[in-house]
Amino acid sequence: MKTYLVTGAAGFIGANFVKYMLKKYQDIKIVILDSLTYAGNLGTIKEEINDDRVEFVKGDIKNRELVENIFYRHNVDYLVNFAAESHVDRSIENPQIFLETNILGTQNLLDVAKVHWMLGKDEGGYLIYKDGVKYLQVSTDEVYGSLSKDYEEAIDLLLEDEEVKQVVKDRVNLKTYGDNFFTEETPIDPRSPYSSSKASADMIVMAYAETYKMPINITRCSNNYGPYHFPEKLIPLIIKNILSGKKLPVYGDGKNVRDWLYVEDHAKAIDMVVNNGRLGEVYNVGGFNEEQNINIVKLTIDTIAKIMKEEPEYQKVLKTDLSNINYDLITFVKDRLGHDMRYAIDPTKIATELGWYPETNFEVGIEKTIRWYLDNQDWVEEVASGDYQKYYKQMYEN
Ligand code: NAD
Ligand code: DAU
Repeated sequence: MKTYLVTGAAGFIGANFVKYMLKKYQDIKIVILDSLTYAGNLGTIKEEINDDRVEFVKGDIKNRELVENIFYRHNVDYLVNFAAESHVDRSIENPQIFLETNILGTQNLLDVAKVHWMLGKDEGGYLIYKDGVKYLQVSTDEVYGSLSKDYEEAIDLLLEDEEVKQVVKDRVNLKTYGDNFFTEETPIDPRSPYSSSKASADMIVMAYAETYKMPINITRCSNNYGPYHFPEKLIPLIIKNILSGKKLPVYGDGKNVRDWLYVEDHAKAIDMVVNNGRLGEVYNVGGFNEEQNINIVKLTIDTIAKIMKEEPEYQKVLKTDLSNINYDLITFVKDRLGHDMRYAIDPTKIATELGWYPETNFEVGIEKTIRWYLDNQDWVEEVASGDYQKYYKQMYEN
């Protein structure tokens, strides 16, 4: 039986990863460490924390004593670090906590794992470790900076490369706004306090791999969407606002491009990298699912309006009249400072080495996501109480 220490699993992706793993593996133990910041919510993992295979520990990844205590009590095989401050806009307002959590927290986890996993030293003085242990850092494509947009509108890319075709299986016609992509060889070039803190964390992870020969992997994923996404991020914020007839704030001209990935596909990638990734390697996750923000917003409006018309029972969740759900809700607001123009991942490495590919097409994934939000308004109400209201006012109403 393998024991996973999963940090930040009361948040969006960590929680989805834990759900995925518990479903996939019977014989597994998961210790969750989460300090329950505004972004962490026990309601997100309420079934999981009652599962005999799970232990929940409330605490900070920077707390050495606490992390050591987990390692003393459990035979941790894998440490998967999701815990982070994750919202770019918040990093622009208050960078310091991003550096503290994302950099120092990562270093603390690495250091405790190093001490507990090491068996001794080799002749050259390098540490040697227990067999089969691994630290996985969940990073982001934002560490690569920003790509140019070569086309104003998306073009269909008819893939000729067999390797890349395998990445996307039967999805051969793909949309892209440019012909350059992030690969694992792309130089690190972060531009926001958030992405700089994540890039710094990646460098510390690589330093532990080089200097102490720590068994590590880093995954760098594109924008996720799906259930349990906190409504400060674009897609869940837009869904929440549409349902109450509130304006939909689109930064700048709405033409910035993100490469969207359904969160379960990310969970699957992490499972594959933990279990089969080559030690010391970075794997990019995402792929050929680019869209401009404005089109995401329009598609979300159209999908919600369609569901409401076809299945009128859903209208009970509306806090506005159905006739208000149209493009008039869109409002262009001041742009994000240093707003990255385009992210686009080339996932050839993870596809060819590990057989990963994104399973969920955006049209299917977005409808699934919207239906989840319609069915889980209690969760939205719960996470949007407290700090959220204050944040929303400061961010969008001042
Ligand atoms: P999130 O903000 O939804 O969740 C973060 C979780 O970490 C929360 O549960 C929070 O309580 C916890 N946390 C924060 N500080 C902590 C601390 N000091 N100690 C312990 N727990 C702490 O984030 P997310 O969107 O789920 O992202 C998870 C990870 O994936 C992050 O590292 C992020 O950088 C990375 N990532 C996110 C995306 C995305 O699209 N959301 C894409 C690529 C990579
Ligand atoms: O690419 C991976 C990253 O994706 C992760 O590392 C981050 O943790 C995650 O938050 C996400 O970052 P983004 O900044 O891309 O996501 P966000 O949802 O905040 O914004 C998506 C796009 O939508 C971006 O171009 C900004 C724009 N936007 C966002 C908000 C919140 C708006 O136009 N209006 C908004 O109100």
